[in-house]
Amino acid sequence: MVFDPLMLRSQLLAWYDAHARDLPWRVSPQDRAAGKVGDPYHVWLSEIMLQQTTITTVKPYFAKFLAAFPNVQDLAAASQDEVLSQWAGLGYYARGRNLHKCAIEVARLGGFPRTVEGLAELPGVGPYSSAAIASIAFDAPAVPVDGNVERVLSRLLRIEDALPAAKPVFRAAASRFEDGHRAGDFAQALMDLGSTICTPRAPKCGLCPWTGSCASFGRGDIETLPRKTPKKLKPIRYGIAFVHINENGVLVERRPQTGLLAGMLGVPSTPWRDQVWPLDDAMMLAPIAEQDWQACGDVRHIFTHFDLRLGVMVARASGTDNTHRVALDQLERAALPSVMMKVIGAALATSNS
Ligand code: ADE
Repeated sequence: MVFDPLMLRSQLLAWYDAHARDLPWRVSPQDRAAGKVGDPYHVWLSEIMLQQTTITTVKPYFAKFLAAFPNVQDLAAASQDEVLSQWAGLGYYARGRNLHKCAIEVARLGGFPRTVEGLAELPGVGPYSSAAIASIAFDAPAVPVDGNVERVLSRLLRIEDALPAAKPVFRAAASRFEDGHRAGDFAQALMDLGSTICTPRAPKCGLCPWTGSCASFGRGDIETLPRKTPKKLKPIRYGIAFVHINENGVLVERRPQTGLLAGMLGVPSTPWRDQVWPLDDAMMLAPIAEQDWQACGDVRHIFTHFDLRLGVMVARASGTDNTHRVALDQLERAALPSVMMKVIGAALATSNS
């Protein structure tokens, strides 16, 4: 099969003109053709939020952020706590912190850099996001490559090298499509094709604009692409978390500024380690001794590098104290990470029953 990037580009762009998804951060291909350009702040914010998170989850956060911080200067001027409290629930708090750092840097620079290289120097902006922002916001000739795009390319060009080792092969393949003409539309068309047509399972080849050129179409094994080196099983870590509740609320502490969930609020817990905690050992580390601690079962949470199993203990007591507490009706606003909300949820379910 001959590889004709110009023809493939025009086929995909024609499909996109008819089928582009309507997304809050997107300028439609018709509006772009009429000269409307995307706001780089909106493009950057959406791309950072979409790293590892689905469009459905991102939509309400995107609206909330724009309401709270209408432009990059407003975001730069906010405190880290304000930004993280808006971010809470999107996961990967390093991304929330980098978002704020990046806004400060962009405000200092007086605007977003317009090139892939310039964008890639910003905090939290990796190779994928810099190519996405450069193409979508500035029509720079770049093709962002994420998992969706790798899947499309592996099938279209029949690339059988296994990921992740073959990432440079995919980058090189994508670079053959680079073109400053409608670069932003092309990038978004590839993303839409990957999420709506060239899906991991049951791809809709009958609706694909590239079927006639696809080196894998009709071979009966399209779902097996892209090839991947099997992942190692994730390690499991164990801990016991302590939810101590009095009339002032739940006992919390601020986590250290480095490491997992850095700088976030959390309930006290034992260290997270690769062996189960015997309860007697764990209880020696309870924040308040000689309480009537009650077990509430386990909570599971998946982090990037390990799965966490946290046993939850709850104690209710009365008597004021001067420790840091969050009132039960303020928990939503306190920007606790999702794993901590799960732990407190398990504790409340037990202690209220
Ligand atoms: N996934 C990541 N960025 C995207 C975008 N701009 N449009 C659609 N899907 C995306």
